[in-house]
Amino acid sequence: MGVPQPAFYIFKCEQSSPPGMPKPSCVNPQTQDLFQHLAQTLMQKGIIGTVQPIRTSCMNRCNVGPIMLVEPGHVMYSGLTKEKITEIIDRHIIGGEVVAEYVIPSELWDTAISPEAMMKQMGR
Ligand code: FES
Repeated sequence: MGVPQPAFYIFKCEQSSPPGMPKPSCVNPQTQDLFQHLAQTLMQKGIIGTVQPIRTSCMNRCNVGPIMLVEPGHVMYSGLTKEKITEIIDRHIIGGEVVAEYVIPSELWDTAISPEAMMKQMGR
């Protein structure tokens, strides 16, 4: 048997805007330890081997940050706190149920356009 793939990747936006910038960001003094909380919780539960947390830069949903994306599934969670992250791990990652109340509003995360369809729109 080969090396198993992770069951999940969790992409946590780790972008922080400089102070005074009008654009909100996912990391500020109040939220800077959310990635650490995510990784530690996965470790404490003994599932970090199959659930891989990944730091990313901006995913263009800053106005509802802090955000993180769960793959597979394209599930984007917004407005995160430590408590919400713990609940998402318990209910979604372990329990298999998307935590609908923390999912980004659909008008900010609508169905993807396939690359092929986008090329047609652009006339290529
Ligand atoms: S700073 Fe996190 S989505 Fe933009």
